[in-house]
Amino acid sequence: MFDPPNPLLDAARALHPPIGASADRIEPERQLPPSLVDEMAAAVTPIVRRPGPMNMARRLGFDPPAKEARMAAAEQYAGRVDAFAAQRTRWRGGRRGDRWTPILAEQARDDPHRPLDANLQALASYIDPADLVIDVGGGAGRVCLPLALRCRDVVNVDPAPAMQAAFEQSAHDAGITNVRFVQGSWPSDPPITGDVVLATQVTYFVRDIVPFIQQLDAAARRRVIIGIWSVPPPVQGEAIFELLFGGPFVRPPGHRELLPVLWDLGILPDVRVLPMPMRRTFAWPPQPTCEQMVEWAVRYIFSLGAVTESDARAKITAHYDALFMQDVDGYGPRWRTDVREMLITWEPRR
Ligand SMILES: C[S@@+](CC[C@H](N)C(=O)[O-])C[C@H]1O[C@@H](n2cnc3c(N)ncnc32)[C@H](O)[C@@H]1O
Repeated sequence: MFDPPNPLLDAARALHPPIGASADRIEPERQLPPSLVDEMAAAVTPIVRRPGPMNMARRLGFDPPAKEARMAAAEQYAGRVDAFAAQRTRWRGGRRGDRWTPILAEQARDDPHRPLDANLQALASYIDPADLVIDVGGGAGRVCLPLALRCRDVVNVDPAPAMQAAFEQSAHDAGITNVRFVQGSWPSDPPITGDVVLATQVTYFVRDIVPFIQQLDAAARRRVIIGIWSVPPPVQGEAIFELLFGGPFVRPPGHRELLPVLWDLGILPDVRVLPMPMRRTFAWPPQPTCEQMVEWAVRYIFSLGAVTESDARAKITAHYDALFMQDVDGYGPRWRTDVREMLITWEPRR
């Protein structure tokens, strides 16, 4: 059998004794720590392994790279999630904390009966009335509650208790009964399946992105949809974070990091850029006056990190014009106006 050239494989062959040889005959400087040998073995194995039926199906239209390249994209992704999480821990002075507070969960609600804007219309176009929709990280139901009015059932799989409370209240207030909240992280155990599986504004926070995607793919009978913004919403307020906590601000992974992971898994998704630009996120609801904008920013920053309220208020006020702007909705932090939502979507292949 022909093995493609592979430096890792060559290195492993050079370092491992031939079968029957004694390990103490290897020169000490050529011996590797056992953990590194295991890592190399894990990286090498798939090159000599015959693809199974699932891998063969993937390879019909698109040939994913070898395992070590796949690991590189996924590792870079995990590195960004880790760096972003470490930044948040640093802001808190080393304390861990629940990101999804009741205040944020309440802000994450939106009226399920609102007319669909162009972006939500694009998403809803993938949903049929008979569908069971799984919303992974569905939060307070901003997206899946309007969809519940247009499909058979919705299951929201999300670990955050504050999001569950906001979701159930929102469904109750809107008189929506064909929805269920499963409190837990994705990948879910036991696995949950549906016709359409979606995850909007979630992937920025998912460290182990490969099993997350693999279960999205396995769970969907007809379509997987990942919703993501071209500048992730947690980046909004970047200048304020740098002012209060120091910089440079570390961004969570976005589409640039996610797409290579998908390609490396042999998934060739459609990337649909939606028409409406981002106006703001639920972390930064518009405020009617400058003073209320400052107070919102102080409260939000205070919930994120170890700052004193008076210090935060003084710094934010001193830099007000550089940090905030007014538009038709009210006052909010300055951000780029050309941020676009993308649907990364594919049909699962079996
Ligand atoms: C920014 S909110 C998005 C909520 C909703 N999808 C939306 O677009 O409004 C991110 C949500 O992802 C959830 N989440 C984070 N990691 C998750 C995981 N591994 N599995 C399921 N949900 C997750 C959080 O609890 C939170 O509710």
